Amino acid sequence: MDLQNRYKWFSSKLPRIFIMLTVVGLGICSVYIFVIYRVESAIKFNLLSKKNTESVFNFLQKLVPNLGFQSNSSLGSVPDSKWNEYMGLNVTGKLNLLVREKASMTDPRLIDLIRKYYIEPPAEKPYALKNPVTLDYSCGQSSYIDRFFNSMENGFFIEAGAWLGEYASTSLFFEKSRGWSGLLIEPNPENFLQLKKLNRKAFHIRACLSTHPFPVLLKLNSASDMSRIVERREDEQWVQEHNFENKPYYEVPCFPLYSIMLAMNRSSIDYFGLDVEGNELLVLQTIPFNDFDIKSLSAECLNMNDKGRDHAVAVKTYLESKGFICNGVIGPNPIHGCFAEDLVFLKKDLASKELKCELVKSPFSFWDNKR
Ligand SMILES: *[C@@H]1O[C@H](CO)[C@@H](O)[C@H](O)[C@H]1NC(C)=O
Ligand SMILES: *[C@@H]1O[C@H](CO)[C@@H](O)[C@H](O)[C@H]1NC(C)=O
Ligand SMILES: *[C@@H]1O[C@H](CO)[C@@H](O)[C@H](O)[C@H]1NC(C)=O
Repeated sequence: MDLQNRYKWFSSKLPRIFIMLTVVGLGICSVYIFVIYRVESAIKFNLLSKKNTESVFNFLQKLVPNLGFQSNSSLGSVPDSKWNEYMGLNVTGKLNLLVREKASMTDPRLIDLIRKYYIEPPAEKPYALKNPVTLDYSCGQSSYIDRFFNSMENGFFIEAGAWLGEYASTSLFFEKSRGWSGLLIEPNPENFLQLKKLNRKAFHIRACLSTHPFPVLLKLNSASDMSRIVERREDEQWVQEHNFENKPYYEVPCFPLYSIMLAMNRSSIDYFGLDVEGNELLVLQTIPFNDFDIKSLSAECLNMNDKGRDHAVAVKTYLESKGFICNGVIGPNPIHGCFAEDLVFLKKDLASKELKCELVKSPFSFWDNKR
């Protein structure tokens, strides 16, 4: 073949070659995007092997300022006083005294301490959200509960633990789209620093909800979205099962919800999002339900990683005895990165007669999630 013929042959095949390359290219792209998406959600939810998650957490830790903290389980935990020092808070002595005394949850010294040193006001700067257009950031809890409030504005929420404040946040919708005020509770210092960067328009508190009717200092295993108070034997087993022994431990102040409410001058909560990795029942048992009003709450009770069914039943039984109705179970929806199931409880007058404590299908069927 001379050069001219070769050229003719090549140009006659050119359109076919072009189509073939395009098809192969598109194929590779979609496989790539799919894999990235799956890996990302798997990383977020600790489903990858320990080694892989380890590197992600190491990366996350690089994002927060170096506090000079060195901690692992064999060393015990980073003392709360060290964090206070870092934050310029001279509060350790006062808190230790109240913890030693097991001060009552209505003790004025405790209320004053929380109000003065722990509760931080909403940000004044504009939001710095990663996904400003998302409507419902939760796994469906927000839109589900919003329906029972008939899109009510200017309510009040509490979200505990708030984690990083955006992805999977059950309260951000109410704050952003319904103008509610509220309080974000997050004990993990690493998460708390990230959370504050979003400039959310809610109060913040770096503390945990006490599992007792008095303030305590507890050890927190800091596994990002699965940070958990390690107090009982079963908590230690949980940490071992999840291979979180090497995560830093922080000593964190924990206050009864009622004390925090008094410090906030609030006597009612419209929506209480409770996700404290297994301590839900203990936290609920400290609440004097006769002294203040909670209209709705969602409690993460069943986690794909956990054997949580007994826990869910115990939470349900307890809340039913306090005048709540379990009105739905949200999730899981792994496609949207939602692996846990939340039980949704409503005060009797809000609850719907048709809806029972049954699994609600894909949370995203309520709304399309972007507007
Ligand atoms: C924990 O700390 C001790 C002392 O600094 C160190 O020798 C050990 O390797 C650490 N263990 C882990 C798992 O990081
Ligand atoms: C911290 O507060 C105590 C009283 O509660 C006071 O005696 C002490 O001087 C304070 N320390 C600093 C560094 O301000
Ligand atoms: C609660 O009331 C006290 C005393 O009036 C006040 O100083 C404080 O700022 C109030 N806190 C909030 C969060 O409204």
